[in-house]
Amino acid sequence: MRIANGFMLMCAVAALLLPSSPLNAAEMGSHKYEQFKKPTSCKGCHRDIYREWSQSMMAQSFVHEWDQAEYFKLALVQAGQLDKVAGVKAGCIGCHSPLAFLSGDIPPKQAAAGTRANEGVSCEVCHSITGSTEKEPFNFSFVIEPGKTKQAPRKDARPRGHKAVYSAFLRSPELCATCHDEQSPYGAWVKSTYREWKAGPYAKEGVRCQDCHMYRYEGKAAIGAKKRSDVAHHVFHGSHEASKLAGAVDLALYLKSAKAVPGRKLELSVQLFNGKVGHMIPSGSSEERMLWLEVWAIDENGKSYFLKVDRKGFKGEEFTIADSKALAYQAMGEIMGEKGFKGIPRDGSVPDGARIFRKPFFDPKGRMTICQWYTADNEVVDYRIGPRESKIETYTWTVPEDLPKGELTIKANLFFSQVPDSVGKYLGLPEEEYRPLLVNTASAVIEVE
Ligand code: HEC
Ligand code: HEC
Ligand code: HEC
Ligand code: HEC
Ligand code: HEC
Repeated sequence: MRIANGFMLMCAVAALLLPSSPLNAAEMGSHKYEQFKKPTSCKGCHRDIYREWSQSMMAQSFVHEWDQAEYFKLALVQAGQLDKVAGVKAGCIGCHSPLAFLSGDIPPKQAAAGTRANEGVSCEVCHSITGSTEKEPFNFSFVIEPGKTKQAPRKDARPRGHKAVYSAFLRSPELCATCHDEQSPYGAWVKSTYREWKAGPYAKEGVRCQDCHMYRYEGKAAIGAKKRSDVAHHVFHGSHEASKLAGAVDLALYLKSAKAVPGRKLELSVQLFNGKVGHMIPSGSSEERMLWLEVWAIDENGKSYFLKVDRKGFKGEEFTIADSKALAYQAMGEIMGEKGFKGIPRDGSVPDGARIFRKPFFDPKGRMTICQWYTADNEVVDYRIGPRESKIETYTWTVPEDLPKGELTIKANLFFSQVPDSVGKYLGLPEEEYRPLLVNTASAVIEVE
């Protein structure tokens, strides 16, 4: 049988409304590792590009610890327990280690074994993809033709040791969509960065993924090549990079009154504007990303008071306000064989009453989950910030009677985390996987009467 794509086959069985079936899509076991060159073989000539790519998350898409843990401790285990998700055994690898998938090396050995699966999304992956079977691609529906001829962005490239052919597909966001959009075996859109971009203002203006994630610099694309003013950078910074996140959302703080009066209410608002991100923030692995706003008042003596956000009353709002008593992620413990696992704090250590901008995912039993492949529904609420969208959060704080006279500082901090810290600690991930990154901050000083 031609296994075109595990996820899609299952979706087709589920009789979902799907685009045409991906007959020419990447097929498991249709190739051999030897048909693809190692990234180190490009390094000799493409020294700078190699160095940039080596730092990127895509160079680590298989070896990085969180990926190893999620695949080997959770997805692969559940694939053996539940038929409905059996396809993820190969499916995860279709995007995270395309060469292993194409070579039929399923499941690959763990990173420590040092096999070629470790190459992740390598030079040869992107520069051998010629198109997709889908008009709006997803689930590794790429068509790939490895060989001496590389897919190239320029018509005037003068390569040495290989050939190059101009590819409009390489330059298009649809290349990125082949892996950045994903449908779960239950038909839920569990990654939709391309679709978010497509529905937003940047697509209309012709600003591509490549324009924001592969910025240009003056230099040479290869040793001995001619100097160009606009070489495409290959570091692909995203939310893992503090500098890419910094300032991604603007913050403005407004106070209704210039004074704080003990015993009275102090009203204020924080406006957030996504002026830099071409899709939702957070995007991508939305099941585990949180962007949250903390507002604190700090009195003359340095004592801090946490301000809770005012409720707006929309459907599903409870999932967007931090609650230290709410437990979730039960599926994770169950897959790992922990009987009677009650779950762990849904919002990690985000302070109670903080607004969380997120899109929660739910498993077939209706519990919040970080297992995107085991997601049946994620349309309950989407409280992320869209491209060029503004959101306004208001706060009503009863000023304590005993607040000392003098200055009162109001501070708004916007944080981002890859994974709730409760999950990170439970799975024993390195701290850098879940530590909060500061996106922006705003403050104001008023007098206490
Ligand atoms: C012997 C040196 C050498 C090696 C090895 C090499 N390349 Fe190249 N490559 C070049 C040169 C020189 C160019 C031309 C660059 C230019 O015109 O700006 C080029 C151009 C390219 C282009 C087209 C760029 C454009 O401007 O459109 C791609 C894509 C490419 N190489 C990919 C690769 C990949 C992938 C590998 C490893 C499998 C590789 N190359 C190995 C020398 C090399
Ligand atoms: C995630 C996909 C992806 C990976 C991985 C990738 N590239 Fe590229 N590369 C691109 C895209 C897309 C462009 C064209 C950007 C544009 O102009 O729109 C490009 C451009 C290039 C160019 C032309 C640069 C220029 O502007 O003249 C060269 C050469 C190249 N890549 C080589 C490599 C090498 C070598 C590696 C591995 C070390 C690599 N690429 C990894 C997607 C990728
Ligand atoms: C063959 C599959 C594939 C293709 C094609 C692909 N990506 Fe990726 N990309 C991935 C995977 C898998 C990861 C996750 C790496 C990880 O964290 O393990 C990723 C991660 C990223 C990140 C890092 C996000 C973060 O959280 O920091 C960025 C940015 C990115 N890709 C941009 C692009 C762009 C832009 C393109 C198109 C030019 C593209 N990708 C094409 C598979 C792909
Ligand atoms: C207008 C600029 C812009 C465009 C266009 C854009 N991005 Fe981004 N992207 C960003 C910024 C800034 C961030 C960092 C903030 C964040 O994580 O949301 C980011 C983050 C990401 C992330 C990490 C998301 C997360 O929350 O962890 C991925 C993955 C990504 N981009 C992929 C893409 C892909 C694929 C496309 C095209 C479909 C694209 N981007 C288009 C600016 C852009
Ligand atoms: C359609 C392609 C695709 C499939 C299938 C896929 N992933 Fe991913 N995965 C990605 C992309 C792209 C990202 C990066 C998104 C982002 O950074 O927000 C990612 C991110 C991740 C991350 C988060 C990395 C981080 O640093 O936060 C983990 C863990 C992960 N994937 C594991 C898996 C597992 C396990 C499976 C199988 C059940 C799987 N993926 C299936 C494309 C895919």
